[in-house]
Amino acid sequence: MSAMSFGSLSARAVEALNKGARLGGFYHDTGEGGISPYHLKWGGDLVWEIGSGYFGCRDDKGNFDPGLFHESATRNEVKMIEIKLSQGAKPGYGGLLPAAKVTEEVAWVRKVPKGQDCLSPRSHSAFSTPLEMLEFAARMRQLSGGKPVGIKLCVGQVHEVLAIMKAMLKTGIHLDFIVVDGGEGGTGAAPVELSDYVGMPLTEGLMVVRNALVGTGLRDKVRLGASGKVYSGAGMARNFAIGADWCNAARAFMFSVGCIQAQRCHLGTCPTGVTTQDPGRQRGLVVDVQAKRAARFHQQTLTALGHIVAAAGLTHPRDLQPYHLIRRVGTAEAKFFDRIYPFLPENALLEGAEDTPYSEWWQAANPASFRPRIDLAAARI
Ligand SMILES: Cc1cc2nc3c(=O)[nH]c(=O)nc-3n(C[C@H](O)[C@H](O)[C@H](O)COP(=O)(O)O)c2cc1C
Ligand code: SF4
Repeated sequence: MSAMSFGSLSARAVEALNKGARLGGFYHDTGEGGISPYHLKWGGDLVWEIGSGYFGCRDDKGNFDPGLFHESATRNEVKMIEIKLSQGAKPGYGGLLPAAKVTEEVAWVRKVPKGQDCLSPRSHSAFSTPLEMLEFAARMRQLSGGKPVGIKLCVGQVHEVLAIMKAMLKTGIHLDFIVVDGGEGGTGAAPVELSDYVGMPLTEGLMVVRNALVGTGLRDKVRLGASGKVYSGAGMARNFAIGADWCNAARAFMFSVGCIQAQRCHLGTCPTGVTTQDPGRQRGLVVDVQAKRAARFHQQTLTALGHIVAAAGLTHPRDLQPYHLIRRVGTAEAKFFDRIYPFLPENALLEGAEDTPYSEWWQAANPASFRPRIDLAAARI
């Protein structure tokens, strides 16, 4: 289950989703709003997401607090740590939980003042380069007692992804996983220009990260997740064929616990109790009932995936390949995915990046900065 924070979601919705995760045997990503008591009540596996606000592990000035992080990261329920760089609905924007939703309890969980807008800055204060990001990840791994640490991002520029690969090669510090969020991903609140126009769509973003990992020989060290309008077995199959190891979903799970798309999430007056902090409005969300629905939605989606895998004559979703996908590219033409997109062979970037479509981006990638090392506009003329 994709990141959705306590604060953007109600206490009862968090409970229902966590209990659903427990019943269904899948993980529940906390989102960047910290670990609330509702995340812990039913024992579902947690991925603790840490965004630029460091909610739940921040000092008074909003900087990362290693002591607080250690306390929560070593909890048994927390199985992995996810550093959030960006999300598809609002890449590069950070976030804002409106004052109306910052109740006493939300403020306590996040370690922020009550009743004031709660801001996630656009960038992290704990690191600003790919190399520093890996050092931060290594520190988190150590502080959490060796749990897997990865990142979530919506791809912006290709050289930025390649810079992370170069940093992994240089330091030998490997991320355990990367979750690619597509530009089509959802959120509780985002400026419409960002949600509609900014951030690479999932298919293209996943291709870039898949090629970056395979091309640098890092694919067997780093697991790859995908999110962004994934709500069906077919959607999962498509992402597995491109190279994902697993998929996350956010809005689909909101629907499973009762969201009717009234789209008042940011106002705090959600009629179904999914995104409001008002206890009266949450009464209609019955945790036991909705938890079973969340688990059933997950189970049925996997069953649908199983049908597709079997129909293709395969035994496991990981056997799906780009040539199992076909896309219409014109009114009278459809092509297999591997005839549309470049799928780089193992180590292609190490052995001859200049012979790949990633040549200029590889030159531009700098492990010591997210900015390009060369003038990309000039390199592409
Ligand atoms: C209500 C809501 C809250 C969200 N909160 C977070 C968050 O705290 N951190 C984050 O990385 N993504 C957050 N997201 C985005 C999702 O985790 C994910 O990137 C995206 O929704 C996937 O797309 P989907 O909704 O199409 O499945 C949120 C999405 C929704 C709908
Ligand atoms: S019912 Fe409406 S306000 Fe509530 S979560 Fe769904 S879209 Fe948001």
